[in-house]
Amino acid sequence: MNGFRPDPGTGRPTRLLNATNLVAGYAGTGSSDVIAVDDVSVYLDEGEVLGIAGESGCGKTTLGSVLSLTARPPLYVRSGTLEIDGKVQQLGQGHKVPRTWRGSVVSMLPQGAMNSISPTMRVRHLVVDVMRAHGGVSKSEALDRASDRVKSLGLPARVIDGYPHQLSGGMRQRVITMISTLLNPRLLIADEPTSALDVSSQKALIDMLKQMLDTRIMSGVIFITHDLPVLRDVSNRIAVMYAGRIAEIADAADIVDMPRHPYSAALLNAVLTPDLETRKRRIHGIPGSPPNLAKPPDGCRFHPRCGLAMPECSTTTPPHVGNDLVYAECFWAAKNPGMAVPVAQLTVEDVGDTEDLVSTGAGTDVHRDAGLPAGKAG
Ligand SMILES: Nc1ncnc2c1ncn2[C@@H]1O[C@H](COP(=O)(O)OP(=O)(O)O)[C@@H](O)[C@H]1O
Ligand code: SF4
Ligand SMILES: [Mg+2]
Repeated sequence: MNGFRPDPGTGRPTRLLNATNLVAGYAGTGSSDVIAVDDVSVYLDEGEVLGIAGESGCGKTTLGSVLSLTARPPLYVRSGTLEIDGKVQQLGQGHKVPRTWRGSVVSMLPQGAMNSISPTMRVRHLVVDVMRAHGGVSKSEALDRASDRVKSLGLPARVIDGYPHQLSGGMRQRVITMISTLLNPRLLIADEPTSALDVSSQKALIDMLKQMLDTRIMSGVIFITHDLPVLRDVSNRIAVMYAGRIAEIADAADIVDMPRHPYSAALLNAVLTPDLETRKRRIHGIPGSPPNLAKPPDGCRFHPRCGLAMPECSTTTPPHVGNDLVYAECFWAAKNPGMAVPVAQLTVEDVGDTEDLVSTGAGTDVHRDAGLPAGKAG
């Protein structure tokens, strides 16, 4: 439960994001486009953190780019609708997104941003460039806003006048997060924000994000990471992506104890279960690797790797089992209502380490995605 206001009509938390039927792909030659986000719908209530998990290449970063309106060639958004705070934006060819949406309605903290900013530019110049890119803000207003924000977030005042390379990795990531939220976006999308940080810096960043939610600097966060223990700690709900689609979304605690999709069970359960013996075993339900998205398998895209596959899985799109906020797309889940995937029925072997079940995913042009200006002398 968070302190955000409930919808007066329903008494439920107010819906912040409705993203429906998103389709996006990388242009290839002829018919070989890679559809990396294929008919994905995502919903977020005010005050929520939605975690996104999945192996490398499953479409997490692409989904983040679509939701943050930062897609650029070769990535094309084909279709979909984005509604944030009741403001509706159609996506796809012929639909122009107002500039004001980027940064102020939704802001992206891209993968690797902390290592991509110019070492020759002081933090104060980054602040001014980012704020002025959105118009209507003088240099002194921009710096005042940043100083106030630094103070309220408990960051040292001196960071404003320093160079990024003078800051530790953890502090640099917090400062960049601060800059990317100066416009008070309704929604922040953070792609692997903690991946390069040590444990105490991860905690400091997560505490800062929670503080920013509590103080309404932003009203919702989509948190992408391959680091599943971090995801469980930070998220209200977790979405598991596979091959450009969402396999399952559930409350963070529930998905660990009661995964309803075999891929979630394989990905999350082995790493997050408190049982040491189970954690030391790799679940053999997921041999191989995710498919080439230029030509994904028919039926359920996970069927070639699924230990519970049945005949219809290889021919027919699996059913949606659940509601908007909590669901699995799976024949097994449809046939076994209310049951957790029987992890014990999946073949297992001792491996000692399950790290290779997940990975950090593909890189992006992080500097530009962050809305941070390219290197300039400063
Ligand atoms: N610039 C690109 N050109 C072509 N295909 C790409 C490009 N970037 C990513 N892809 C493909 O899109 C799919 C999803 O990638 P991505 O969204 O980066 O996944 P994740 O973040 O989960 O690792 C992958 O199959 C990847 O090969
Ligand atoms: S739909 Fe079938 S193949 Fe896909 S995850 Fe469920 S049981 Fe496995
Ligand atoms: Mg990625």
